[in-house]
Amino acid sequence: MTTVDAAPAGALLELDDIQAGALYERPSPYVGTYVLLKIEDRADGRELVRRLHQIANPAAGAETAGDTSFTVAFTYPGLEALGVPQASLDSFAPEFQQGMAARAEALGDVGESGPASWEWPLGSTDVHVALSILCPGEAERAQIAERVRAAQAELPGVKQIWRQDCYQLATGRTSFGFKDGIGQPAVEGSGRPPTNPHERPLKAGEIVLGYPDETGELPPMPTPEVLGRNGTYVVFRKLHTKVAAYRTYLRGRAKNRQEEDLLGAKMVGRWQSGAPLAVTPDVDDPALGRDPRRNNAFLFGDDPRGFKCPVGAHARRANPRDALDGEGSVDVRLHRMIRRGTSYGPMLPPGVLEDDGVDRGIIFVFAGTHLRRQFEFVKTQWLNDGIFIGAPLEKDPLVGGNDGTGSFTVPQRPIRRRMQDLPPFVVTRGGEYCFAPGLRAMRWLAEIGS
Ligand code: HEM
Repeated sequence: MTTVDAAPAGALLELDDIQAGALYERPSPYVGTYVLLKIEDRADGRELVRRLHQIANPAAGAETAGDTSFTVAFTYPGLEALGVPQASLDSFAPEFQQGMAARAEALGDVGESGPASWEWPLGSTDVHVALSILCPGEAERAQIAERVRAAQAELPGVKQIWRQDCYQLATGRTSFGFKDGIGQPAVEGSGRPPTNPHERPLKAGEIVLGYPDETGELPPMPTPEVLGRNGTYVVFRKLHTKVAAYRTYLRGRAKNRQEEDLLGAKMVGRWQSGAPLAVTPDVDDPALGRDPRRNNAFLFGDDPRGFKCPVGAHARRANPRDALDGEGSVDVRLHRMIRRGTSYGPMLPPGVLEDDGVDRGIIFVFAGTHLRRQFEFVKTQWLNDGIFIGAPLEKDPLVGGNDGTGSFTVPQRPIRRRMQDLPPFVVTRGGEYCFAPGLRAMRWLAEIGS
């Protein structure tokens, strides 16, 4: 087994047992497909897992070589369908056992974002296996998709029940116009250098099970060890974006196009190019936005009141960096996450303010070892609540569960600006809590009871 010495005092990560999706960037640009499968017959399900293991295992062939990223994950009902023993099922995180739909109210998935309106089969007990295929080009996608199709051949007890294609524009921009996927933590032992020189790499146990996390302890891990080790929890959410409503909202509040761009940037914490407001607060700097060595190299400590980047901006809420430092403060490092989100649906053409009724948005993907203190904490305490920034009534202006009455404060001199009557710009179409096991664990799953 290849092991790489992490940081000087770091853990040894079993890199060739960990599925690529958690630790490594997806290709960019990418084209991809998510597939959901239902297991109706246990033996067929196990045979499927055996075959998927072959595709996921780089040692077994060239399918995942190069930039292609293929990840296999299971829901709780999926592990049940495979016959994982009850004692083992009970050892998974409680949130995973409950599933995302059961957590909806706490997560703010209510009203049009509530499970009753979710796209079938998302949130139902029919979703058992989730596959993510992300490739640099169509040729590679076609090749892997064919392998996945072949893996289901002559297994009538396995049904493909959902599919969603995704893609990235060459500019990296997503439906609201912003470049996404920039702010990511580095992970000790992954061999990938940090993009923010001011943030120490996270302990591997924050992202991969079986290693100490930031508390110095091993995170609770599913048993037996062969199943839990080198796995990670994955959150998968289909988020529809109301792009016309977002553009119309900004148009109605800005004096001109320039101010529209500025207000949009204030809501996100970055300009559309990806350039951070913390570094360039007054004008966009597309060269900075494009430069991976500089576009994440910043902190907020010199801007405690948010004159450069509002404390309520989406990216600052989601990762306040050093801005919460101080006595009794929350340890931001306990709430970091790997994001592997992608973009789906055609872009709304520039300048269009009318809703064309087309579905477009983000497939939000989280990877980490603590569903509750990472994903759920950030979603509920930082995005859907404003207590931590001293504005209890303010939710995230871009992705918070606003209902037309919310506001967003843009600190400025001489008087702050308050953007009122925020409507919802993001609607949850559904999602799942999954577990992406290590490769040995996949073999174990394929062979339970044999
Ligand atoms: C449709 C929904 C969403 C959109 C359009 C969106 C968009 C963005 C954009 C444009 C950025 C800045 C670029 C970057 O650093 O990658 C960002 C950063 C981020 N977002 Fe979101 N986001 C969405 C939902 C979420 C959710 C649900 C969460 C977590 C629960 C989240 C967590 C983060 C984090 C952690 C960062 C990085 C912050 C940093 O390290 O600077 N986002 N998002």
